[in-house]
Amino acid sequence: MVFAVPIHGIEINYRTFMSNTFIPLSVPVLEGNEWPYVKECLDTGWISTAGPFVTRFEEAICAFTGSPYATACASGTAALHVALLLAGVQPGEEVIVPTLTFIAPINAVRYVQAEPVFMDSDPYFNIDVEKTLHFIETETVYRDGQTFNKKTGRRIAAIIPVHVFGNPVDLQPLIERCQERSIFVIEDASESLGATYTTGALKGRMTGTIAPIGVYSFNGNKIISSGGGGMLVAQDAKLAEKATYLTTQAKDDAVRYVHHEIGYNYRLTNVQAALGVAQLEQLPEYIRRKKVIYESYSQKLAAIEGLHLAETPPYGMPNYWLMCLQINSSKYGIDREGVMRLLKENNIQSRPVWYPNHLQTPYKECQSYCIELAEELCSHTLNIPCSVNLTQDDISHVIKVLKITDL
Ligand SMILES: Cc1ncc(COP(=O)(O)O)c(C=O)c1O
Repeated sequence: MVFAVPIHGIEINYRTFMSNTFIPLSVPVLEGNEWPYVKECLDTGWISTAGPFVTRFEEAICAFTGSPYATACASGTAALHVALLLAGVQPGEEVIVPTLTFIAPINAVRYVQAEPVFMDSDPYFNIDVEKTLHFIETETVYRDGQTFNKKTGRRIAAIIPVHVFGNPVDLQPLIERCQERSIFVIEDASESLGATYTTGALKGRMTGTIAPIGVYSFNGNKIISSGGGGMLVAQDAKLAEKATYLTTQAKDDAVRYVHHEIGYNYRLTNVQAALGVAQLEQLPEYIRRKKVIYESYSQKLAAIEGLHLAETPPYGMPNYWLMCLQINSSKYGIDREGVMRLLKENNIQSRPVWYPNHLQTPYKECQSYCIELAEELCSHTLNIPCSVNLTQDDISHVIKVLKITDL
């Protein structure tokens, strides 16, 4: 695929730009049926919400993930908002969230006027399950079939574990305890489509399909992209039906425009779904390529003291969405900011991990529980290029630049 993008007002051939001079962090790769499927939308006039590709995308996600029901949404954020409504989270209640994640799930908690309670990270960048269980045991009380925060007196209505960077969360113990405590679990699998559990009770199952509701995102930087878009998957027909109802303006009578509830314009368009279907066809190959990229970086980084890639969890197979360079600055001689500068000077895009959400302006007054590792992970982690079409030459070039400390 060759297309032109305006950069500083000059039209540059994207493929040439990418391969010769600039290595981006993570860009969409459109090598499959994207053109014919989008053309079909244009030829048939089905460009808006509803349309055959929307249904096809939902069915394909169900077939791929093993989830029985799916509702295609305008974005992952929209899907999270609806998930919280379906979970019955009420204004003034609380939702447990990890501090280390893209901010979308935290903002969604505020969309329903609830309060986030922030948890620490484990070494795989995911919510620290052990600490979260400890929080539930020691900081909450179970009364009349509901869990209440001892400190605030508020009901803890839900939890949103996020499968960060494509690494599966250690969900089994968390789900079990939350079920016992009537805490509704919503999996944010926005970054982890295709990641699976390989051991234990969840063996063979995919992230997003373990909890009653899971959410995926297809925005531009995800492992597959529909331009923008999301998917809510549900284990229960009633939840899925309600998701479709709420995302299509809550039409109780679609002809006479009768509404008994507040709905949202949150559905995916047919054109976006066409891209999604084409991208999903390529996902197994994309995960295979991502794994090769991960292994290749790991092997090459072994020659550089003070640098390595973050490990992946032993109980699951990630989709390897983003690669996390770990920088031991005292051994490597350059800190995270310095490495980012070095890469930028060499036309290589990198990105620090998100600023922890418990420190963000809208959330710094919210409760956070024993947060230690999350801040440390932030200080020494850098995401490095890992697009699906990253070549071995690109990887060698990144490594050559990182070997500058040998000079
Ligand atoms: C963990 C996580 N949750 C939610 C979202 C929101 O998805 P979207 O951008 O499709 O709204 C994203 C990505 O953007 C994400 O990384």
